[in-house]
Amino acid sequence: KKPDNHILVIFGASGDLTHRKLVPALADLHKQDLLPEKFAVLGLGRTPLTNEQFREKMSTGIQEFSSKKGDVPNGFLKRLYYYSFNTKEGAEYKGFKDYLLALDKEIGSGGNFIFYLATPPSMYPLIPRFLSEQGLSRDDKGFRRLIVEKPFGHDLASARQLNRELLNYFKEEQIYRIDHYLGKETVQNLLVTRFSNGIYEPLWNRNYIHHVEVTSTEDIGVGNRGGYYEESGALRDMVQNHLLLLTSLVAMEPPALINAESIRNEIVKVLQSLRPIPKEEVPRYVIRGQYIESEVKGQHVKGYRQEKGVDPKSRVETFVAMKFYIDNWRWAGVPFYIRTGKMLPTRVTEIVIHFQPTPHHLFADDPAIIRQQNQLVIRIQPDEGLLLKFGMKVPGAGFRVQDVNMDFHYSDLSDTYLPSAYERLLLDCMLGDPTLYSRGDAVEAAWNFIDPILQAWKEEPCIKVHGYPAGTWGPEEADELIEGDMTWRYPCK
Ligand code: BG6
Repeated sequence: KKPDNHILVIFGASGDLTHRKLVPALADLHKQDLLPEKFAVLGLGRTPLTNEQFREKMSTGIQEFSSKKGDVPNGFLKRLYYYSFNTKEGAEYKGFKDYLLALDKEIGSGGNFIFYLATPPSMYPLIPRFLSEQGLSRDDKGFRRLIVEKPFGHDLASARQLNRELLNYFKEEQIYRIDHYLGKETVQNLLVTRFSNGIYEPLWNRNYIHHVEVTSTEDIGVGNRGGYYEESGALRDMVQNHLLLLTSLVAMEPPALINAESIRNEIVKVLQSLRPIPKEEVPRYVIRGQYIESEVKGQHVKGYRQEKGVDPKSRVETFVAMKFYIDNWRWAGVPFYIRTGKMLPTRVTEIVIHFQPTPHHLFADDPAIIRQQNQLVIRIQPDEGLLLKFGMKVPGAGFRVQDVNMDFHYSDLSDTYLPSAYERLLLDCMLGDPTLYSRGDAVEAAWNFIDPILQAWKEEPCIKVHGYPAGTWGPEEADELIEGDMTWRYPCK
């Protein structure tokens, strides 16, 4: 089914997100004939541009970043429009409204509008207010939806405040809070892996799972985003949203139905069951690090403090590893470990389910080399797939056991196209399906868990920020988080 005719209005259209992610994703939807017949993208920004100039700029973005190869479709470029005004000034919204309604009439999009906030977060409460003053948030004459990019607040109080402000002008059903991780095909596959296979779900609990690891690393630094990152750090940038969301999907109960309400109810229950880490315990449960100037394969690499826009004395973390528990029936006593960082050896996002060992080690001659436990590795990216590790007898005399892999790669499905996260999410919003978007209560529950950690770091400057050389797996202290003689899984060590 195609979405209803509409106009997608992008605030912040001259920014990076529009040109690298949004417009290429829309072009890919166009190539698959998934966009409605009467559809336009209206870019808004302060920089004055003609439609032609905007189309040209977007065309380079599509060439560089779209997932579907081939020429930039002319038919799509013709659907792009641009209108320039100062979005900070409420008085200027009347002119914008007139332009929008005239465009709506011209193309016949039926008064349906999606407003996408791809601006700096300081604009998030303002724009909805100004839209509402113009009567553009009311959905009685067509649908009106609002997509809000991250960051959604910078702590619990600001997230609550933002939710309150948005809800003054739009109803919860109209608000689509984006976390692009939920748009990833392999993240959605977590639900299918768990809930469509009889073999996993019976084992998916404290009786059979020893611990769970969620890792999301990058091999690049902060690049040009130093200014943003100084206000954020890895805990806000990756853990509060993406990694807690992955954890929720691993830990949630089966939803009653596959619909937005049921799935989002189960996600929020997990987030509300996260055991808070008391401020004084933060150094025991959370390790933070920052990449330092180093040599990687003979190349000099800048430290975080030398990056553009970064305070030379910055204590902002570019790495976080943490341990926590989910206090509920299914997961009581099972440690969860999550880890993320910039400038690590590789880009990888994966979830590792470590199953309990057998109760008695029949085949281990030497207890020190007891074979690793069974692991299910769910690879979110890049090499998307599933890997099950188990023990096999080494052929020949005796009973020597060796770990072997049963491996599935999405790339083996040669004719399957993996849509990008933005492609999937934009299409869902156009179809009015909020399942893969975050609900307000979930965002607040995640902040509620993160807040004491932020406070401890702020109030106790003696909590160390461990320096780690680029190209390593972060501070060694992160290894000590994991109980017993186990370590993190190092995908390419
Ligand atoms: C973004 C963060 O949300 O996610 C970035 O702001 C990070 O710092 C990015 O690089 C990672 O996304 P992906 O899809 O490349 O794993």
